[in-house]
Amino acid sequence: MVEKKIFGKLSDGQEVNVYTLKNANGMEAKIIDYGATVVSLTAPDKNGKYEDVVLGYDSLDGYVKDKAYFGSIVGRYGNRIGKGKFNLDGKEYQLSINNGENHLHGGTEGFNKKVWTVIHTDVVEALGSASITLNYKSKDGEEGYPGTVELTVKYTLTKDNELSINYIATTDKKTILNPTHHSYFNLSGNMHKTILDHEVMIDADKFTPVDVGLITTGAFAEVAKTPMDFRVPKKVGKEVDADFEQLKLADGYDHNWALNKAPNQLLKFASVYEPVSGRLMEVSTDQPGVQFYSGNFLDGSVKGKNGVMYARRTGLCLETQLYPDSPNKPEWPSPILEPGKVYNQTTVYKFSAKLL
Ligand code: GLA
Repeated sequence: MVEKKIFGKLSDGQEVNVYTLKNANGMEAKIIDYGATVVSLTAPDKNGKYEDVVLGYDSLDGYVKDKAYFGSIVGRYGNRIGKGKFNLDGKEYQLSINNGENHLHGGTEGFNKKVWTVIHTDVVEALGSASITLNYKSKDGEEGYPGTVELTVKYTLTKDNELSINYIATTDKKTILNPTHHSYFNLSGNMHKTILDHEVMIDADKFTPVDVGLITTGAFAEVAKTPMDFRVPKKVGKEVDADFEQLKLADGYDHNWALNKAPNQLLKFASVYEPVSGRLMEVSTDQPGVQFYSGNFLDGSVKGKNGVMYARRTGLCLETQLYPDSPNKPEWPSPILEPGKVYNQTTVYKFSAKLL
């Protein structure tokens, strides 16, 4: 059984619930229906000890006030759209502006600020897995986006210690869609520590450079001989503060890597290893890009779980998605969704430990 409990109440009295998924190994994911948010996720260290490896809040109030998107599903469009404008069939749409002069992560009240409907929970004893399926219906015009979009997200905790996320969506009018998952991972399990000693590998020869507003320029740049090269595992802290224009612009890593793997195929593209605990996270997706964000905007001002004030770079995100600002880059993989077509994305975060 997937346990359900009240997590809190919104100011309008609406109840928000927390669901606990457990796999056969005892790994646990707690998910709330507010933002379809992962509020905790345990993973084993080299001694088999399961500890929470994601940032978050102890109470609903934290998620209501949150500006960092901890653990949520962001959408309709994850990442930035320049000036919040795009064209569809000759018509210009203006989205809400919530990041300088740009649109970020679905706008002021994106999918992360909505109460989703839980349509199914399931434990499959034979597979040692547990899942929860949530649905959100986004109205025509919401945050400026055309069309009514229905998005269903299924989180599955498998017996192989994977958190698998499947997204399926449809629309009744031509629109754009690019949802992603925004967990901040700290594999040490100790959120007083930064992620600077985490060793990251991203299988990508190129990334998409950004301008001062962090909008992609439309170019691809080679990672070779730059601090953006993660083709061989490297500590985040090794070059994060290097004198490199792209890092100065974003105050660290906050860029999209164009993955080498075949598009539309669910393949591994990244790993993250924390040497003290031995925890390893491997990430697979069928998306062409990933935003690797090193938690540069965390500044110790927000009180997280267990009263910890999350300092700069205490969590890292690997947000799988299309290349940012794709609505304005017609030559890039397209975020357009048409009626009668189905949007489908799968991304898998797999946890294990190196025993050395
Ligand atoms: C993404 C963005 C970052 C930042 C975080 C949330 O990773 O690219 O710039 O907005 O989300 O703070």
